[in-house]
Amino acid sequence: MQQIAEWLEMLGLSEYAQRFAENDIDFTILGDLTDQDLEKIGIASLGHRRKLLRAIANLETVEKGTPAVAVIAAPASPLPHDSADRRQVTVMFSDLVGSTALAARMDPEDLREIMSAYQKCVAETVQRYDGFVARYMGDGVLVHFGYPSAHEDDAERAVRAGLELVIAVAALKSRAPLQTRIGIATGLVVVGELIGSGDAQERTIVGKTPNLAARLQGIAKPNMVVICDSTRRLLGNLFELEDLGSRDLKGITEPTRAWAALRASSAEGRFEAMHAIGLTALIGRQEESELLLRRWSKAKTGEGQVVLLSGEAGIGKSRLTAVLLERLATEPHTRLRYFCSPQHADSAFYPIIGQLERAAGLAHDDSPQARLDKLDALLAQSSTSPQDAALLAELLSLPNDGRYPAIDLAPQQRRQRTLDALILRLQSLTRQNPVLMIFEDAHWTDPTSLEVFGQAMNRIVTLRVLLIVTFRPEFDPPWIGRPHVTALTLNRLAEREADAMIDCVVGNKFVPASIRQASSSAPTAFRCSWRR
Ligand SMILES: Nc1ncnc2c1ncn2[C@@H]1O[C@H](COP(=O)(O)OP(=O)(O)OP(=O)(O)O)[C@@H](O)[C@H]1O
Ligand SMILES: [Mg+2]
Repeated sequence: MQQIAEWLEMLGLSEYAQRFAENDIDFTILGDLTDQDLEKIGIASLGHRRKLLRAIANLETVEKGTPAVAVIAAPASPLPHDSADRRQVTVMFSDLVGSTALAARMDPEDLREIMSAYQKCVAETVQRYDGFVARYMGDGVLVHFGYPSAHEDDAERAVRAGLELVIAVAALKSRAPLQTRIGIATGLVVVGELIGSGDAQERTIVGKTPNLAARLQGIAKPNMVVICDSTRRLLGNLFELEDLGSRDLKGITEPTRAWAALRASSAEGRFEAMHAIGLTALIGRQEESELLLRRWSKAKTGEGQVVLLSGEAGIGKSRLTAVLLERLATEPHTRLRYFCSPQHADSAFYPIIGQLERAAGLAHDDSPQARLDKLDALLAQSSTSPQDAALLAELLSLPNDGRYPAIDLAPQQRRQRTLDALILRLQSLTRQNPVLMIFEDAHWTDPTSLEVFGQAMNRIVTLRVLLIVTFRPEFDPPWIGRPHVTALTLNRLAEREADAMIDCVVGNKFVPASIRQASSSAPTAFRCSWRR
């Protein structure tokens, strides 16, 4: 009934909520109502009856088991809510496989326990990614990413949460193995006000996206995460996907291209993942590029250098580091690239583990032994001792198969020895070639990695190393003021350069002056998002 009241409110007809409630009208029977029925329950206004019938015709029912649920489709008339707002939201629909069969086999008490463990598991998993459980519908759960809290990486969060959820549900203790099916879709929705309070609190979204997510869930195989094309476009190459082709989905007029998300990819970083098909030409930034090249020349002579490269999101920090990588392509040097991630700011050593895994070439289907062999091959390049190799293998969660000595240290000592092993490895690498280290997105660093880079910064004064740290203004680097540290803040491009970038992005299409003006005062990412 709460949903009906909310739906009526969005139509601007909340005065009839009481009548709907008194007559036990819920979403399951809304579609059966006729004009006479509406008149009978006391809606005298013909205009209001017509408005209601039109809105009912726009409702898209998601046919699931019990209880029947309805996802509200956009009403034909504009929402009267002052607070109604258009937003891009990624919606996840998760469903427990075979719940009807479970219900037939189990006694109700056991089934209730399983359902509540499953719902708790969904809630905990999505909350880690700041997803919002909008509604439980029996064994289905509807989750929003991007509303009420929005993040720049909501689509990525949804897919990571989906992949993790499949594993978490399978690990739940139950007499029969449990499996999930997950559908994820991204689209524009109209968001409404917060309704209810406490556990019953709901935030409604109105649009086709929830329905699409539910339909995609319907075509997923057990333990599969299926996404739509608009979600895929936001993910770049961040995940390995399987193309499921174009599918006809019930209630959706156009065939829908669907993809199964298999796992996170080993893409070098966010920037690379989003620019897999290449970069547009560099606009401006000559002085900044030259500064980086000068610092590199100095670093090569053994006077280690650090550049702290800061600027707002989308201003071009990663693009500038890409320039340096391009310019050094033919020079002998070693690259060590570290990427922080907003979802792993609490995960110790996260960017360092990622660098080692990529450098060693670890693949998801490698056996533990193959992984250790690859790590050994990598560490041989830096003549890492067996003791240090043991610590680094442990850092990558690789079980010691007896090839390394056992390390018997207290946790604090173990941590310090791991830090030392990383610095020693860096030192050793600089003896062979100058090293270019790029520590991307330090505003998302975990504290332990920050400590590693702090220690590295002290050591590199006399090493052939250029370390570039990129970060947004919210990060306050503790290293400013040292002689070998240069702070470089990227400002917005000049109007002429912004114009050149717009031309480069839109080709010879006409762009109104007002948009040109708005874009030149906005970060670069906004300008470039036109391309998508
Ligand atoms: N000078 C430039 N010339 C051409 N393209 C640019 C330039 N600066 C930025 N871009 C483009 O703008 C987009 C955003 O830039 P980039 O990813 O480098 O920003 P960023 O500062 O690293 O942002 P974030 O803080 O999100 O990491 C990219 O598509 C990039 O290729
Ligand atoms: Mg960047």
